[in-house]
Parts: sequence; C-alpha cells; structure tokens
Amino acid sequence: MTNSELEQLADKVLEKIRSHHGQPLEPTKLADLYKTSEEEIISSIGILRNWGYTIKADKERRYIFVNAPDNYLSTEILYNLETKFMGKRIYTYYTVQSTNAIASQLAIAKSPEGTLVISEHQTRGRGRLGRNWHSPEKVGLYCSLVLYPKIHPTLAPGISIVTAVSLADTIASYDDIDVKIKWPNDILISGLKVAGILIELSAEIDRIEHIVVGVGVNLNQIRSDFPEELRKQATSVRIGTKEKIRRVEFLQRFLKNFERDYAAFKKYGLKDARKKITKYSSLHNKEVKLKMGRKTIIGIVIDIDEQGRLVLDTKEGIMNFNAGEVTTH
Ligand code: BTN
Repeated sequence: MTNSELEQLADKVLEKIRSHHGQPLEPTKLADLYKTSEEEIISSIGILRNWGYTIKADKERRYIFVNAPDNYLSTEILYNLETKFMGKRIYTYYTVQSTNAIASQLAIAKSPEGTLVISEHQTRGRGRLGRNWHSPEKVGLYCSLVLYPKIHPTLAPGISIVTAVSLADTIASYDDIDVKIKWPNDILISGLKVAGILIELSAEIDRIEHIVVGVGVNLNQIRSDFPEELRKQATSVRIGTKEKIRRVEFLQRFLKNFERDYAAFKKYGLKDARKKITKYSSLHNKEVKLKMGRKTIIGIVIDIDEQGRLVLDTKEGIMNFNAGEVTTH
C-alpha cells in the first residue's frame, strides 16, 4: 500500500472505531472489513495516533476510540460539518505565510466555491490597511474561503459585513458575551478586538472574478500570548467566555452560519442582515472620527446602509462612506 492509500485506510478505520462508541474492535475484524492485512490495520492506527487521535488497545489488542485532537485536520473538520458546500473542499497546512495568498491562487485555478484554506500558523498573516495579523501556532483560527458571487463589484464590501455578522453570531453562540461589530468588520468582545476579516477581490469593471474571504479569530490565547503592544487592544474568545474553545467546533459553527448568511446576501443583499448589523453595531448613535487617507470626518453614526456603507450625520449633512478607519472618543 502507498502512503496515501494507508491514509485513506486510516480515515475509514477512524470512522469505524469512532462509531463503535467506546466498544473495542479486533484488528482482524477491521482487516476483514477492509479486505486488507492486520499489519496494515496496525499501521493505519499508527497514522491516526500521529495525527493526534487517542486510541487505546486493550489486553486482547483490540482498539478503542478515546478522543479526537482539536487540530485542523480535514477529517475532523468534515466530521459532522453541517454545510452543503462551505468548507467541503479543504486545504490544511501547519505553517503558511498567509492563507489568503494560497486561496487567491486556488481561486485563479477555479477551485470550487466554498473551498477552505486553513493553517495552524501564519508567518505573514495579512491584516487590513497593510497591517500584520499576529497568528501564533495552534491557538487561533486563520482561514480563507473562495467565493464566486455573481454581484456587481461595488457590492463586495457587503460580503465582509455579512462575514462579520456570521462571526459575531458564532461567538455569541458560546455564551452571553458582549460581542460587537465595529464597522466595517472588526469583531470586539468588551471593546477589545477578537477577530478581523480581510476580503481580497479580483474583478473586472462590472463583474467579480473571485473573492477571498480571510478570517482571523483569536480563540484560545491567554493574555500573555499577545505581544506587549497588542495586550491593550486584543482579546480572545477564551478570555471572553472563560472556557477553552474547541477550535474545530468553532470553525464548523462559523461555516454553517456563513453559508446561511452568504446565501441570503446573494438573494437579498444586506436587507436580511440589517437587523443583526444594528444589534451588533458598536458605533450606532456614537460620535466618531472617520479617517480616509489624509481626510478626517466627524459625525454621528446613524446607520449602515444597504450597500454596507457607514451613514454619518455630519456638519455638512448626512453622508455615506464606503471605506475608512473609525475611532470613537
Ligand atoms: C484585520 O486587519 O482586521 C483583518 C485580519 C485578517 C486576518 C486573516 S487570518 C487568515 C487570513 N489570511 C491572512 O493573511 N489574513 C486573513
């Protein structure tokens, strides 16, 4: 058997012993079932243990499934994933420079809609406005999704707002925590940043070729995991909920929410998401400064419109803005 055949066998063996609900299974039975030798069954169990699964052997050398690792393995992500297409094609890595960069390449190669690129670690995680995204190993969620929406390029910012709503819903599903969205797409817990979204777009004048939705979430970081300069601005879901988060489960919940919200967005634009945008908004009715390049505008946030633009009541009247950095004071 080649290595990749052994890995395929390992996947099948995993499914079988996992569904056996803690009951022991003889290697000879598994060998018969998959028409292979006992030796190869033993070897596939070795592969599963290498992947991080805990599998016990009893005195009679029968196998018992104990638990699954909280690692971004395709097998784990797909196990009980309740989506039709979002995250069904998966590329997992341990270290990459940026999942967005890989997803863009895959989009050019026409990887299917909903393709997920995910890594345990990024060495050059990209943030908005040319910033970095701090992406330490095995504590966060760093992933990118490939989409091909048939919408006008001017509507693309709406996708990042929808993503923010899906993420806020995902975080709020854990606990009754104070999760907010700071326009356009920063996710905050108790005023500190917990997640960010970076949309990268390839388009012609009137047609989107593809969109890459990059999502970074601080999940299991504790305070000392953040570099000094981020400690006053950043938080994690774990800090917010006071419980360690199963990262694969978080991802599955997010993919399910996002598939639902993306479908609604394609049908109705932001109409459907408006109620939630208002509910989660950290800026509604606040006076803010909006910085766009060298220009700064002061106004009161009265809404986010159906194109995802920030609506400000300014000295010069009501104005809508589609980009910029907001600060409150
Ligand atoms: C922000 O500045 O708020 C956006 C941060 C987006 C970070 C994510 S992590 C996964 C994906 N790959 C990247 O290089 N960036 C995004």
